Amino acid sequence: MTAGSTSAGSIDLSAVRADTPGCAQVIHFNNAGASLPPQVVTDAVLRYTAHEALIGGYEAAEAAAEEIRSSYDALATLLGARPHQIALIENATRAWDMAFYGLPLERGDRILTCRSEYASNYLAYLQVSRRRGVVVDVIPDNEHGEVDTNAAARLLDEDVKLISITHVPTNGGLVNPAATIGQLARSAGCYYLLDACQSVGQMPIDVAAIGCDFLSSTGRKFLRGPRGTGFLYASERALSEVEPPFIDGRAATWTSTDAFELRSDARRFENWEYNCATRIGLGVAARYAAGLGLESIWQRVQSLARLLRARLTETPGVTVCDRGRTQCGIVTFLCQGIDPGAVKAALARKRINVSVSDAAWTRIDMDARGIPALVRASLHYYNSEEEVDAFTAAVAGLLRSANSIAE
Ligand SMILES: Cc1ncc(COP(=O)(O)O)c(C=O)c1O
Repeated sequence: MTAGSTSAGSIDLSAVRADTPGCAQVIHFNNAGASLPPQVVTDAVLRYTAHEALIGGYEAAEAAAEEIRSSYDALATLLGARPHQIALIENATRAWDMAFYGLPLERGDRILTCRSEYASNYLAYLQVSRRRGVVVDVIPDNEHGEVDTNAAARLLDEDVKLISITHVPTNGGLVNPAATIGQLARSAGCYYLLDACQSVGQMPIDVAAIGCDFLSSTGRKFLRGPRGTGFLYASERALSEVEPPFIDGRAATWTSTDAFELRSDARRFENWEYNCATRIGLGVAARYAAGLGLESIWQRVQSLARLLRARLTETPGVTVCDRGRTQCGIVTFLCQGIDPGAVKAALARKRINVSVSDAAWTRIDMDARGIPALVRASLHYYNSEEEVDAFTAAVAGLLRSANSIAE
């Protein structure tokens, strides 16, 4: 297929757009921020919330126990895991924190991470580095902008206790070689924590093939679940070795005055109190994605993003900034002479949603590339070729009016 053509493949575009009321309202190219949910997800959340208001919070949860439980099954299926390896947590960052801050890192231990690491993760490294004297080493990128796996192998020694990287960076279309890093982590015997916040829902994920000890992700992005949902996968090794950084009455049982017993499954990383409605909605979203097929979703997302990159590359004044050999649904670019924030605002006036990726979210990568901010257009399978054309025309129009004012 050429860069100018796409195929919806086995995805019925009209059907998925009809399932998504937001498609009639906006051109939503902010799926890396939060996707438009399918109606079934919204319905599930509203139905449960209404029931809760009628019969009481605990009573509604009891009545929906099977539905809530099935969300674990759905997420486990999505990741190639088992339901007891899944913890449902309120967002990806807290899920990641529960793994990271639980690791027994001590003075002199080393963490290997990547240049495009997400800010909240890197802030946590800085904190443990200050508090405990843990050393943080950044694996260089290869010439494609991906984590350089040869450099990672060279950096490994017995002091490395953790490799912790981001699968798909928040600020660009590349996909890091997560499975090769997994092989390195296994051969070194260190822990491997993968931030899969931007990859789950847009591509097939198999935790066994990746070989990670922990994988954190969110519900609202490419999975199209409700906001305020996230989850953590923990391997058997992680479950047998890693305690949560703090515990409550769900994570553990107070067995006698001065004793407690931790749960053996991943729910030890959860909170006692949680939002039942959104947990149900998250399970519905995971089943919706599985029903379409992650491989079909991935083909469609890649094909549509390829089309957008090709269209933007042809547009005078636009520089597409994505790197990586495997590219996903995140398309980043700059418009000559127009600040990314102004591009976002101007597109919003035309009911086109994008976001701005500021340097502060991926400081090491953005500083090295000398980019203070990027426009981020993130596509999902339910976006259409017509939307890509309308988007490109809108960007070209902005550039024309900016240049005519400048002349
Ligand atoms: C790569 C990456 N990791 C983590 C997060 C944080 O996710 P959450 O906001 O669900 O905590 C984001 C959010 O944009 C992200 O892009």
